[in-house]
Amino acid sequence: MNILIIGSGGREHTLSWKVKQSKSCDNLFITPGNAGTAKIGNNVNLDPNNFEEIKVFTIENNIGLVIVGPEEPLVNGIVDYFNTDPDLKEIKIFGPSKVGAQLEGSKDFSKNFMFRNDIPCGKSKTFNTENIDEGYKFLESISAPYVLKADGLAAGKGVLILENLDEAKKELHEMLVNKKFGDASHSVLVEEFLDGIEVSVFFITDGKDYVLLPEAKDYKRIGEDDKGPNTGGMGAVSPVNFVDDKFIKKVKREIIDKTINGLRSENIEYKGFVFAGLMNVDGDPYVIEYNVRMGDPETQVVIPRLKNDLVDIILTCLDGKLSGASTLFLDKYCTTVILASDGYPNQYERGKKITNISDEDESIIFHAGTKLIDDNIISNGGRVLACTGFGSNLSEALNNSYKKANEIEWEDKYFRKDIGKDLM
Ligand code: AMP
Ligand code: GLY
Repeated sequence: MNILIIGSGGREHTLSWKVKQSKSCDNLFITPGNAGTAKIGNNVNLDPNNFEEIKVFTIENNIGLVIVGPEEPLVNGIVDYFNTDPDLKEIKIFGPSKVGAQLEGSKDFSKNFMFRNDIPCGKSKTFNTENIDEGYKFLESISAPYVLKADGLAAGKGVLILENLDEAKKELHEMLVNKKFGDASHSVLVEEFLDGIEVSVFFITDGKDYVLLPEAKDYKRIGEDDKGPNTGGMGAVSPVNFVDDKFIKKVKREIIDKTINGLRSENIEYKGFVFAGLMNVDGDPYVIEYNVRMGDPETQVVIPRLKNDLVDIILTCLDGKLSGASTLFLDKYCTTVILASDGYPNQYERGKKITNISDEDESIIFHAGTKLIDDNIISNGGRVLACTGFGSNLSEALNNSYKKANEIEWEDKYFRKDIGKDLM
């Protein structure tokens, strides 16, 4: 069948790379894509949030399956749009319904879902301009550090962690009254701080059953030793050494089973990826957040470790038949190091020519912010490339990632030198 993947990041290049290997994939289209996806499929220039435009394209190009990479079209209801339009009956689309996507689209919705379904998470309360004084009082009643979260989508920037009470109050005011994150901070959650180590868990569910994907650890800060501002993620590793059988059993029982029971009992239509951002607090998993899509750059280490045909799993999921399905993982370590444009996540320049890019047996370069101009690969974003490496242990995988990170050249290249070091 012909397949359309929506998105343009490293996640979508990785999904394209995997989908292209499927026996079920004929023609692959990516919209808008990047220089990496252009080499394995056909990039098409559509607006991911213009569903009418996507509809016309899918019909004209005989698309059988649409895979949605980023959260925004999901939160805007692309799955409901496809599933309710009689012209699109024959076209399958992979992702949660608009209500399901609220697990990521609204932190308040997501928190209430966790509370209702007894899923372990930090205690929290939600405030808006009307009850901001209660918000200040609530902050006074808890101890530092203070976690403030904008309710809506804020491009990964909507979470603040503050050490000082006055600062926390000031930021609550900034978010609610001065709309620091625009409409996304119309409501703000004040959340209990969870002290532990983060890990990301991924699964694919049809709303009744699920298959697990490999776990990963992401490195979110721009600087070494987790210093400096948050980014989309500067590197990732899989597997994660503290995720042993005992921990995974707890994750399945306390988080995955309860999440799926909640989706089912609340009649939330959900056929897609679930990415649970967890905190391991003294061996017990707590949910920090749900995402209704794969992570970026986690996909660049999770998907290369999946042995199954991804399109097979997706089609089985869309048929609601995941109950008998299972997944197999490559018994290797996989790491990725992000090459970013100097200045990211703040101001940076685009348009620089990149040279010396090549895959080897033990490494793959996934593109994010790149574009092709006359066969040249040009930087076109903050996070530009992901150097994925494989190895029989973590240090071997990292060596393969860093070999590529050092080899690839362009004027503004920046990368963290300490990905995975904390796990060695
Ligand atoms: P989020 O956008 O919800 O993933 O939050 C961004 C980052 O803030 C997370 O990856 C954590 O590092 C941190 N964070 C969020 N919530 C908490 C919490 N309750 N306790 C500690 N750290 C948190
Ligand atoms: N790397 C974190 C995310 O994709 O949300």
